[in-house]
Amino acid sequence: MGATTCQQVRVSVSQTGDCFDCATNESLLAGMLRLGRKGIPAGCVNGGCGVCKVRIVEGAVQSLGPVSRAHVSTEEEANGYTLACRVAPTQAVCLEVAARLRKPFLGGATSVAQRPAT
Ligand code: FES
Repeated sequence: MGATTCQQVRVSVSQTGDCFDCATNESLLAGMLRLGRKGIPAGCVNGGCGVCKVRIVEGAVQSLGPVSRAHVSTEEEANGYTLACRVAPTQAVCLEVAARLRKPFLGGATSVAQRPAT
């Protein structure tokens, strides 16, 4: 039996602890959008605007198409940076939100640090 149908893998966002399932044939951005977080901006969804920039901390991804060099340099790419709309996970992935996505997505996360100590 050919087991080439797409699988779902678990993707986690290191800064927020959010997890979502993503198919191995869909983009990380598509999966992330299902989280329903209002701060996730989907820009061009075509590798050109850079708003969905992430760093792959753990796991592996495969390319779904070209990534704009204006937003991800070869050096950044070597360090795990890519565009979430242009890659699909091939195994469980932990990613770190970068670039312009970071601010709205993480929202008020900085205020957590201001909780009074007990
Ligand atoms: S949404 Fe524009 S590069 Fe990903």
